[in-house]
This record gives sequence, structure tokens and C-alpha cells, in this order.
Amino acid sequence: MSSPVAIVTGASSGIGAATARRLAAEGFHVLAAARRTDRLGGLVDEITAAGGTATAVMCDVTSDESVAGLAEAAAAASGPVTLLVNNAGGARGLDPVESGSVADWQWMYDTNVLGTLRVTQALLPALESSGAGTIVIVSSTAGFIVYEGGGGYTAAKHAQTAVAGTLRLELCGRPIRVIEIDPGMVKTDEFGLVRFDGDADKAAAVYAGVPDPLVADDVADCIAWCATRPHHVNVDRLVVRPLAQAAQHKVHRVG
Ligand SMILES: NC(=O)c1ccc[n+]([C@@H]2O[C@H](COP(=O)([O-])OP(=O)(O)OC[C@H]3O[C@@H](n4cnc5c(N)ncnc54)[C@H](OP(=O)(O)O)[C@@H]3O)[C@@H](O)[C@H]2O)c1
Repeated sequence: MSSPVAIVTGASSGIGAATARRLAAEGFHVLAAARRTDRLGGLVDEITAAGGTATAVMCDVTSDESVAGLAEAAAAASGPVTLLVNNAGGARGLDPVESGSVADWQWMYDTNVLGTLRVTQALLPALESSGAGTIVIVSSTAGFIVYEGGGGYTAAKHAQTAVAGTLRLELCGRPIRVIEIDPGMVKTDEFGLVRFDGDADKAAAVYAGVPDPLVADDVADCIAWCATRPHHVNVDRLVVRPLAQAAQHKVHRVG
């Protein structure tokens, strides 16, 4: 029997890389997709060294052509395509709506929302023909709250959350479950750097004094747990925050 195939977008760093490693350890053949193939190559080597299997696939989720290539790679894999993790995304800027950059808002909508749409549309036939498909959408607590300076990101994540809910309704009766993962504060290497245009001090300040913020492996653990439940068990939405973060505005910091 060939291993089931899992596709993870945004696998070159952070939550996506951790999820690819974890799913490979769970027995999936992982198609690790992102734009930076050098990073994906290192990840595949790591997974292989740990006894798993994975393939690096260059994919820009903002390009129809590139996403079509990802679907072709999935079709060429020997096992059934049972799992898609739509993880590629992120935030750009922390400006108020009054002065927010239209280009940043466009980037966030195209990557988080339309990226999820493109990849999901392209992989749905393969997921359905597996007879037991799972689509995971990594949205955020920003998908159901708003905060000052977060207008562009929360708008995009609200939209991504809306895609997850709509898709679950539309696919009801077909063999594909839809799981939304909503992390709060996760300390990953690049999320803050992307948000603050490479400013490491601003990125680090987000987590300053927070005892034990979530890390990428914590979210990968949540994704893997949801995706490995019996197929009739649909975890609609999993909200996960660090203990120190009771709500978006209520974060315990020391020092
Ligand atoms: N960190 C947090 O606090 C947090 C909290 C809640 C939700 N999230 C969500 O979790 C997901 C992962 O976040 P993270 O913290 O792991 O961030 P990250 O380390 O910056 O990872 C983002 C990933 O998305 C990929 N990506 C960006 N644009 C892409 C594109 N056009 N096509 C394909 N891949 C693209 C990047 O790879 P390439 O640049 O190589 O393409 C990278 O692998 C995001 O959707 C984020 O919104 C994060």
C-alpha cells in the first residue's frame, strides 16, 4: 500500500515546516510546497533522515499556473491524496485603516484568501477521489476578532475563516471534511519579520516577556491530531493560544 499523500503549503518555514515534519512522522508522504525551494530541499533531507518521505514542490499560491503544477505533482504521487493543509499566508504591516497600504492589503488577501481558494479548487478532485479527504485551513484568532492596526490581516483572516465555513456547508454529503485551525500568538522565525518588513526588533517585541508562547510544533501537533481522527470526526474549528494569552488584548508578560 502506498502512503497517503498530504500537501502542505507554506512549508518552507514556521508552522508549515513543522506540520510537514509531523505529518511525515505520522506516515504521510508529504508534498512540501512554497516558493523557496532551497528551504524545501533542506526540509525534505531532514524528513528523509528521520525515516519519512517528502517531495519539495515549488509553488506560489498567488499564481494559477504554479498551483496547477502543484496539482500535477499531487496527481503524480503514488498514494491517495487525502490531506491538504492550506497554511501559506501571513501579515504585512500594522498600520491603522486610515493609512494602511493598499499593496499590503492586496498581498494579504491574495496570499491568505485567494491562495487558499486556488489550492483548494485545484486539489479538490484528488481529495474527493481518495474517498476520505481532509482540508485544513490555517486561519487565525484574527479570523474572529479585530484589533487596532490589524485591519488588513484581520480582514483577510475573517475572509479565510468564511471560506472554511462555506466550504464545509457546500461539501456536506461528500467525503471531504473541512477543519479550521485558529492559532493565537505563535513564536515563529519569520511571521514577525514579514509583518514588519525585516525589522527584527519590532518582530521580537511582539513576544517580549511572554512566558512560553506557542511554537510551530504546538500548532503542527493540533493539525496532526485533527487530521488523524477517524474520518467521520470533523473538528470544525480548533482555537489554540498560549497559556499566557487569555485573549488578543490580554497577554501576561514578565519583566
Ligand atoms: N505566527 C503566528 O503568530 C500565527 C498566528 C495565527 C495564524 N498564523 C498563520 O499561520 C500560517 C503560517 O504562519 P507562520 O507563523 O509559520 O509564518 P511564516 O514562517 O512566515 O511562514 C509563512 C509561509 O508561507 C509561505 N508563503 C508566503 N507567501 C507565499 C506564496 N505566495 N506562495 C506560497 N507560499 C507562500 C512562506 O514560504 P515562501 O516565502 O518560501 O513562499 C512560508 O513558508 C499563516 O497563514 C499565518 O497567517 C500565524
